[in-house]
Amino acid sequence: VSATGRAVADVLVDGETIRAVLEPGSTLLGTDVAASVDRVIDAAGKYVIPGGIDAHTHMQLPFGGTEASDTFETGTRAAAWGGTTSIIDFAVQTYGQRVEDGLAAWHEKAAGNCAIDYGFHQIVGDVNEDSLAAMRRLPDEGVSSFKLFMAYPGVFYSDDAQILKAMQVSRDTGMLTMMHAENGPAIDVLAQQLVDQGKTDPYYHGIARAWEMEEEATHRAIMLAKLTGAPLYVVHVSAKQAVEQLAWARDKGQNVYGETCPQYLYLSLEEQLGAESEQWGHFEGAKWVCSTPLRSREERHQDAMWQALRTNDLQMVSTDHCPFCMKDQKELGLGDFRKIPNGIGSIEHRMDLMYQGVVTGEITLERWVELTSTTPARMFGLAGRKGAIQPGADADIVVYDPNGHTSIGLEKTHHMNMDYSAWEGYEIDGHVDTVLSRGKVIVDGDEYLGAKGDGRFLKRGLSSYLV
Ligand code: URP
Ligand code: ZN
Ligand code: ZN
Repeated sequence: VSATGRAVADVLVDGETIRAVLEPGSTLLGTDVAASVDRVIDAAGKYVIPGGIDAHTHMQLPFGGTEASDTFETGTRAAAWGGTTSIIDFAVQTYGQRVEDGLAAWHEKAAGNCAIDYGFHQIVGDVNEDSLAAMRRLPDEGVSSFKLFMAYPGVFYSDDAQILKAMQVSRDTGMLTMMHAENGPAIDVLAQQLVDQGKTDPYYHGIARAWEMEEEATHRAIMLAKLTGAPLYVVHVSAKQAVEQLAWARDKGQNVYGETCPQYLYLSLEEQLGAESEQWGHFEGAKWVCSTPLRSREERHQDAMWQALRTNDLQMVSTDHCPFCMKDQKELGLGDFRKIPNGIGSIEHRMDLMYQGVVTGEITLERWVELTSTTPARMFGLAGRKGAIQPGADADIVVYDPNGHTSIGLEKTHHMNMDYSAWEGYEIDGHVDTVLSRGKVIVDGDEYLGAKGDGRFLKRGLSSYLV
């Protein structure tokens, strides 16, 4: 199955790459292909798809006074279990740090530890003259996109002047500007007012981070991108009004893109409000505190996300994998939702969760592949190497069994380094059977055959979506 169609075929892998896609029973240079290879993986009755590419992850991210609980080792192994064979993680420049030093620190965290191939975007948390100069050198490092934050004043936040300057670099270099589009200063006022009223439960995180704050910031980012001519990619879109902004800009011919995440397709603010457990009481809702926040099911944001994935107002699905345990991590926000580290862990389940969209008829089989693999590759400068089963591409291949079944839960399918699952109890029609990373079988049924260090750094080129 590819982004453009499906066919019965044999895929010939030679070493780390795909040699050919052949009609079953083909001969190559006079020899029967199937009879002359070292190993045959029988995928009859199953889908053979390009390995998933999760273009938005945060391994070991220092955030909210703690650090995301998956290391590059545990997080990429969990990814492999779930049929994802490449990630693009966010290297971080913190306030006061040099961009080069932030990037070097990320290389140090990841090198030799990953189960699958990995690339980096650069978070620029301190836009200043030195950073702007350093950003111009990033494409030579294989880092062809950077993320700015309109949220989190005092942490990663950029004001409009900083965004404008960074976007001028984006226009000049062809690097994609990735935007966390929420009006942080306004959100922080609303959050303070809620806390002052004693409204401290996790649910109020989503009330403070109202959709108006996402719509406004998305519009502002679009206008700054229009003014500067920067290509713009809005991350973790969850509000239907933000999608309307993207669609509006795209209809006017602007080079603007967006992703959503499984949590915004399936989980809702109402469920978060209703969440309660013996152990955590109403603080149970902290499991789903992320930014942008879960939106109201009643307001039909989820339906709008599915629709946008069909109509291409949104182009891809990433996880924004940013896991924190409840114990000692999410717990930091007991009594004050502002102190709950933001993030949900989903890297292991993205392919399965999105396949449910095929099962329920929200998207086609081809669109599933496109949203989870082909477009991420093209969007982020990996076209030709990743995201398609074609001659010359890396042999990153998943055999997916549509008749298989996957039960998600902490005691079931769970390889992420977390003490809970945000997806506890989800039952998936479908199962990742076999995973090849650059020709090596790393998941074979219920056996893990990969190793830490299998994954290599991906020097990315510029986006195929530049015009
Ligand atoms: O809640 C989230 N999204 N945590 C990760 C950081 C970010 O803003 O992507
Ligand atoms: Zn973000
Ligand atoms: Zn993120």
